[in-house]
Amino acid sequence: MGKIVALTGDRPTGKLHLGHLVGSLKSRVELQDTYDQYIMIADTQALTDYFENPQRVVDNIIEVVSDYLAVGIDPNLSTIFVQSQVPALCELTMYYMNLVTVSRLERNPTVKAELAQKDFGKAVPVGFFCYPISQVSDITAFKGEIVPVGEDQLPMIEQTNEVVRKFNRLYNTQCLKEATAYLTKTKRLVGIDGKAKASKSLNNAIFLSDSPEVIKEKVYSMFTDPNHLKVSDPGKVEGNVVFEYLDAFHPDAEEISSLKAKYQKGGLGDTTIKSLLNNVLQDLLLPMREKRISLKKEDLFDICIEGTRKARGVAEQTLSEVKSSIGIDFFEKRDFYLKNH
Ligand code: TRP
Repeated sequence: MGKIVALTGDRPTGKLHLGHLVGSLKSRVELQDTYDQYIMIADTQALTDYFENPQRVVDNIIEVVSDYLAVGIDPNLSTIFVQSQVPALCELTMYYMNLVTVSRLERNPTVKAELAQKDFGKAVPVGFFCYPISQVSDITAFKGEIVPVGEDQLPMIEQTNEVVRKFNRLYNTQCLKEATAYLTKTKRLVGIDGKAKASKSLNNAIFLSDSPEVIKEKVYSMFTDPNHLKVSDPGKVEGNVVFEYLDAFHPDAEEISSLKAKYQKGGLGDTTIKSLLNNVLQDLLLPMREKRISLKKEDLFDICIEGTRKARGVAEQTLSEVKSSIGIDFFEKRDFYLKNH
């Protein structure tokens, strides 16, 4: 029996940040020892947003790979590959498109939220609209059963499993596998401005590659409790970004809960907690920064090429199983046809 496959991916639209680290990157470092892990640079998916500016996507591919290696993803244990270079993924998408309705895509909560945010009006590009189906291909092509992602990706996994069940039932096969999300304790990291989610597009995230000065500046600009004016005032910890980050990154939960109690009672200043958080984040990101500096661009390129070569083989194998389940392995069945038709 082969190992169970873990599969995940990131859009290369910018450098990765602390939200990615707690939401998914840390899990991948853990999972790579036990699972057969594939990590996809989702450039094709990123193009659904950036088709007018493809250079931005291209330029970030190697950046994202450096982030992977910097956090401890080991290319000998995890297969890192580039989505656009695996053509079988597009073919699978064509077959899955028949199994998903327009209204189901409209009901996908992630698509719904993005549609509202983007304000396309009636001019919704089909590519954007269908990206959940292409994500079904990403997951199923590798028979991914474990998908380490942030909470925002749950609707995509649900969509995947619907297609898997429909495909297997319709074509009377077991060839596709259902997937389960692998969530972490911090499902969603708030932005430094207190907005719901840290994101590169909102420019409210601390990047893994930020310099010590920038990290400090961002920590000291974090949203706390606007009514906590004097050190002696009681302060709120809910919605206080510094505490949310301490919860996510400070190793000692007991220390944090006693600091919270003190803050709520009054007598603990914002500067003290910010300085503590700054130290924690500096310690966390320093080894990553050093690792990143030691990486050579040509090696990163070769890692992608090698990983993609392996990924192509696996995806092609699944594609041929899918085609033969549908019955369109036409040429393979040449002799059978010539005999019976
Ligand atoms: N949609 C994911 C994101 O925006 C990226 C992604 C593409 C992905 N294909 C995937 C994640 C397959 C998990 C599995 O971050």
